[in-house]
Amino acid sequence: MCLWRLLALLFLLPCSSAAASDTLSAEESLSGNLTLVSAGGTFELGFFSPAGNSNYYVGIWYKQIPGRTVIWVMNRDSPVADPSSAELTLAQDGSLALLTGNGNRSKEPIWSSNSTGSRDDDTAAVAVLLDTGNFALHGRRGGNSSAIVWQSFDHPTDTLVPGGSVGLNKRTGAYQALRSWRSATDPSTGLYTDRVDPYGSDQYVFLWNDTAIYHDVGAWNGRSFVPIPEMGLSDRYTFVFVNNNDEVSFSFRVNDPSTFSRMVMSPHGQLTMFDWSDASGQWLLHWATPTSPCDVYSACGPFGLCDVASSQYCRCLPGFDPVSSSQAGGWASQLWSAGCARRTSLQCSGSNASSTDGFLELQNVQLPSTYSSVADVGSSGDCASACLRNCSCTAYAYRYGCLVWDGDLRNVQQLSVGDAGASTLFLRVAAADIAAANHRTSADGRLAILGVPSAVGLAVLCLLFVLAWARRHEKAVHHDGALLVFGYGYLAQCTKNYSQKLGTGSFGSVYKGALPDHTAIAVKRLEGSAQGEKQFRTEVRTLGTIQHVNLVRLRGFCAAKHERLLVYDYMPNGSLASVLSGHSFRLLDWRTRFGIMAGVARGLDYLHEHCQERIVHCDVKPENILLDAGFCPKVADFGMAKLIVRDFSQALTTTRGTVGYLAPEWILGLPITAKADVYSYGMMLLELISGRRNRDATPRAGGCYFPLWAATKVRDGQFLALLDERLAGDVDVEELGRACNVACWCIQQSEALRPTMGQVVQVLEGSLRAGTAPVPRYLEHLCAEDSCGTF
Ligand SMILES: *[C@@H]1O[C@H](CO)[C@@H](O)[C@H](O)[C@H]1NC(C)=O
Ligand SMILES: *[C@@H]1O[C@H](CO)[C@@H](O)[C@H](O)[C@H]1NC(C)=O
Ligand SMILES: *[C@@H]1O[C@H](CO)[C@@H](O)[C@H](O)[C@H]1NC(C)=O
Ligand SMILES: *[C@@H]1O[C@H](CO)[C@@H](O)[C@H](O)[C@H]1NC(C)=O
Repeated sequence: MCLWRLLALLFLLPCSSAAASDTLSAEESLSGNLTLVSAGGTFELGFFSPAGNSNYYVGIWYKQIPGRTVIWVMNRDSPVADPSSAELTLAQDGSLALLTGNGNRSKEPIWSSNSTGSRDDDTAAVAVLLDTGNFALHGRRGGNSSAIVWQSFDHPTDTLVPGGSVGLNKRTGAYQALRSWRSATDPSTGLYTDRVDPYGSDQYVFLWNDTAIYHDVGAWNGRSFVPIPEMGLSDRYTFVFVNNNDEVSFSFRVNDPSTFSRMVMSPHGQLTMFDWSDASGQWLLHWATPTSPCDVYSACGPFGLCDVASSQYCRCLPGFDPVSSSQAGGWASQLWSAGCARRTSLQCSGSNASSTDGFLELQNVQLPSTYSSVADVGSSGDCASACLRNCSCTAYAYRYGCLVWDGDLRNVQQLSVGDAGASTLFLRVAAADIAAANHRTSADGRLAILGVPSAVGLAVLCLLFVLAWARRHEKAVHHDGALLVFGYGYLAQCTKNYSQKLGTGSFGSVYKGALPDHTAIAVKRLEGSAQGEKQFRTEVRTLGTIQHVNLVRLRGFCAAKHERLLVYDYMPNGSLASVLSGHSFRLLDWRTRFGIMAGVARGLDYLHEHCQERIVHCDVKPENILLDAGFCPKVADFGMAKLIVRDFSQALTTTRGTVGYLAPEWILGLPITAKADVYSYGMMLLELISGRRNRDATPRAGGCYFPLWAATKVRDGQFLALLDERLAGDVDVEELGRACNVACWCIQQSEALRPTMGQVVQVLEGSLRAGTAPVPRYLEHLCAEDSCGTF
C-alpha cells in the first residue's frame, strides 16, 4: 500500500499531489488511489467504485468501518471511467473542480462547486475534510480570507450525519434534501427525496420523482416527529428541529461522540436510521419510515404488486412480466421502479365496446388511491362494462360503487385474508392472458392468480438467496435495510437443528438459538398450513420495523419453500403466564408488577396511537407478554393483530381472541376497535394484582367470577382485598388504588366508558385521576348463580 502510494507519487503525478492529509490546497490535486483523511482519522475522501458498478465517483466514507459506507458523493450523475486520468483540484478562481481527460492539456471539468465569492487566482483557497464528514472549501469572501465559501454539508447526497442538516433557508430559498441513490450500487440521483415541502408548508415530506408526495413526516413534539415515535425512544441521539422566520432545519447529534449513526434515504424510498455496532460488525437498523416498504409510492413500479411478507417484496401482477431495464440489471438487482409490462396488448377499439379483454380477480389487495368513480353504476358487471368501454381503463373494483383506474396501475399491495382494507381488484388483461392464468391455476392446483407466492417462486427465491450467500459470505441479508432475511440452513445452525424447544403455540413451535455474536434468539417455526402462512404475514407486516421497548423485537424472518420462520430477541424470563402460575413461577414483588402493568400499557398505547397504521393486537393475555432479564415486559405474538388504516375504517369484525380476555363486543359479533385490547388488558391487570388467573375458582371471591367480585371491592374502595395475599400487604397503596381503578374502567361493557391505552398510562403514572368505575353488571351471568347475586 505504502509502496503503491510512493509509486503513484513518483510516476503518476510527478508535479504535485496530496498525500494522506486532510487538506487539499491550491497547488495540489487528488487522483487515482490518493485520499484525504480527516484529522482524527474518522472520514476519508477519494475516488471509489461501488461493488457491481464500473464507474468511479469522488466520495466520503468512514475510514475505520469495513465495507466502505459512503456518506457523500460529489459527482453522482457524472461518473468518471478512470480515476487515474481524473483529478480533483482547486481551480484558478478558487472553486473546487473535478477534471477528466486523457491528454495532460485537455482536462475538462465534469463537476464544479461553482462557489462564488472567491476571486481569480485565489491563493487563499484550501479544501479541508473535517472529522464530521464535512468537506469545506475556504476562500476569500468579503475580505475574510478563511471564510467557508462552499461545503459538502450544504449539498448532501442521501445521507445525514451529525453536524449536517436537512432544511430550507427561507430568505434565499436554498435547501438541503436527501435524495436516494438509484440503487444500492448506483449513486446517481434516484427517485426518492426527503426535503422541506416544496409546496410551502414547513413540514418535511417524501417525494417520488419530484412530483408525488407519499409521506409526510408530521408535526414535531419536541423530541421526535409524531408519526415516527421510534425517534424518541433511544437516548443514543438528540434530534433538533428548528423552524423560525429564517429557516427550517432538522439535524441530530449522537450523545456519545465515539459512536456512529447515519440517516439515509434508501433507494427504495424509506428514510432509515442506522447505528454502527462494533459488537456485531454491522450497521443495525434503528427505524425506518414509512414502516412498510410497500407504503412507498410506486415501490414496485407500474403493474407491480407489493407483498411485504414475501422475501423479495415486489412481483408482477398476473399477465405482466418485469420490464427488463438495461441499466443496472432492473429487477434482478432489486431495481423495481421500472415495473412490469403486459404480456399481451389489450384489444380495445374505442367507444364501440368491442373489446375482447377480460379481468383477473385479485383478492385481498389494498386498492391504490388513484381511482376515479363512475356514477350510476349498479353492479359489478356494469362496472366491468364501463371499464371495457374506456380503452385507457386498466382495472376496476366494486366497493361502495364503481371505481376505475386509468393508465399505469401503481401501489397495489397484497394483504392477508381478513385485513382491514383488503378488497378485490379486477385487473384488465387480454383474453390470452386470462386463459394462461386459468390454465396455471388448474395446473398446480393453487390459486396462483390470487397472489399467493407459488411453491416454484419460493424455491427460486430460496436458490437466489443461497447464491447471494455464497457470493457475499454473509449469513443474513438485509431486506431493504429493514428486517433481516435469514437463510434456512443458517437458522438450523443457530438453533442446533431446532434442538431446544421453548414452547408450542397454536401455529408452531418456538426454539432457542444464538447468533454467531452470542446474541440469544427465539425462532418461531410456523406450521406450513394456511393459518401459519397467515400468521407469518401478519407478524411481518405488523412488527415489520416498528420498535418499542415494550414490544418484542422481530429481527428477521426466513421464507424458504414450505418453511416460515420468525426470529425474535430471546426473553430469558419467559411469559408472564408462566411466571404467574406456570413452570417458571416466581413471586413478583409489587414494584415489578407495577412496572409490568405500565410497560404493557405503553406498548399497547404505541400500537394503538403512534404507528403509521393503528394496530389492534387482538390477543392481549399473560401468555403473550414476555419478560426480559430485568422483567421489562414485551408484548408479543402479533399473529392475530389487525391493522386499521387511519381515517379509513375504525372497526373490523372477523377475528377471534382468547376466552376470558375477549371483549363483550366480540362475543356479540360487533365491530372491534382498539378498545377490545383495553378490555383484555384490564382483565390481565386483575391477574397481576391478585397473582392468580381470573378463571381459577377462588374461595376468596366466594366462588364468584373473580373480576366481578373484584369490581365490587374496588367500588367500595377495598383495594387491599384484591391484592395477592402472598405479598402480605407489602405494596404502594397509592399505586394499588390507581391500578385497581383503571382495571375496572377497562373491563366496562361499553367501549365508550373504557379509557384509551394512553389514558391508562397517564392514570398509572399518576398524571390523570380515575374516578370510581361502575360495577360491570354484564359479568354477572358468568358467575356461579347462587353466590353472587347480592352486591
Ligand atoms: C455548476 O454550474 C453548472 C453550469 O451552470 C451546472 O451545470 C452544474 O450543475 C453546477 N454544479 C453544481 C455542483 O451545482
Ligand atoms: C472569517 O471566516 C471564518 C470562517 O468562516 C470565521 O470563523 C471568522 O470569524 C471570519 N472572520 C471575519 C473577520 O469575518
Ligand atoms: C419521472 O418524471 C420524468 C419527468 O416528469 C419522467 O420523464 C420520468 O419517466 C419519470 N420517471 C419514472 C420512473 O416514472
Ligand atoms: C361504432 O359503431 C357505429 C355503428 O354501430 C359506427 O357508425 C361507428 O363508426 C363505430 N365507431 C367506431 C370508432 O368504430
